[in-house]
Amino acid sequence: MNLYGLMMKRRSVRNFEDKKIPEDVVQQLLDVVTNAPSGGNIQPISVIVVQDADARKELARMVGDQPWVKNAPLSLIFCIDFYRIKKWASMFETDFKGEKAFLPCLIAYADLMCSAQNVVILAQGHGLGSVYIGTILDVIDRARKYFTIPKYVLPMMVLSIGYPKSAPKNIPKLKRDVIAHRERYTILSDDEIKKAFEEKYGKFEENVERYFQRAFVEVVEADKQQNEGWMDSFKEEMKKLNIKNNAQFLFKLRYPSDTMIRMNESLIRSFKNAGFDFF
Ligand SMILES: Cc1cc2nc3c(=O)[nH]c(=O)nc-3n(C[C@H](O)[C@H](O)[C@H](O)COP(=O)(O)O)c2cc1C
Repeated sequence: MNLYGLMMKRRSVRNFEDKKIPEDVVQQLLDVVTNAPSGGNIQPISVIVVQDADARKELARMVGDQPWVKNAPLSLIFCIDFYRIKKWASMFETDFKGEKAFLPCLIAYADLMCSAQNVVILAQGHGLGSVYIGTILDVIDRARKYFTIPKYVLPMMVLSIGYPKSAPKNIPKLKRDVIAHRERYTILSDDEIKKAFEEKYGKFEENVERYFQRAFVEVVEADKQQNEGWMDSFKEEMKKLNIKNNAQFLFKLRYPSDTMIRMNESLIRSFKNAGFDFF
């Protein structure tokens, strides 16, 4: 398959075979982490390779009981790492103060995601599947403690990797011309915006079950793997909140904006605990 075909077929995989990834493949995945683009080629990142069964279990628990994190034979924890570079600078009579400035942190996060996405693509070329786990951001302090991560190092993203047992189909995406603007930004009309999202998600009212399959694959998969009635509790909550459309589902229930704003506080605290202080 050509690269375009491979990338268009990529899906986040949450159902993994119980099968180890050969060490030479793991090493290649780590090589493409190292070889990714990096602002100024400073490479202020580190990756923690998690394969031990107990550590996988603990990581899965930490990130909100996501069963695929435990089942994946390999998880990579991508960290912004200013520790190494600060130490190096200090040994040569200069200072690196990235932890006090927002810009180096933004660039380090971009570096980190370039590295992570290199892994996603190479992994797929090896017949592996992967899924990002962003909820590590909710538990930075706990992750730093368990994985003995020093000051000036922030775990920012997890990528869980393994051989797929199954992968979701029909994940809805916005159309190319909604996202791509040629030469200048084109403001869409209200109707065009409504249509763009309706084409993406389908009609919310038609069939809630199908809506979940398309728009909330994580909870459908978690329900299958853990059978803890996650979907039922979401459906109940939907009734309680009188959710009537896609936008309300996303921003009243799944990612409520007020909750996100409240989470500023704990995120800033975790950054400060790690020595990052530009707020
Ligand atoms: C920043 C980021 C954070 C994510 N966090 C999670 C997560 O915590 N758990 C999970 O199961 N999937 C997570 N995902 C995967 C998304 O749910 C997935 O990319 C999305 O549903 C689209 O599906 P696709 O990757 O198959 O295109 C995350 C993806 C990104 C880019």
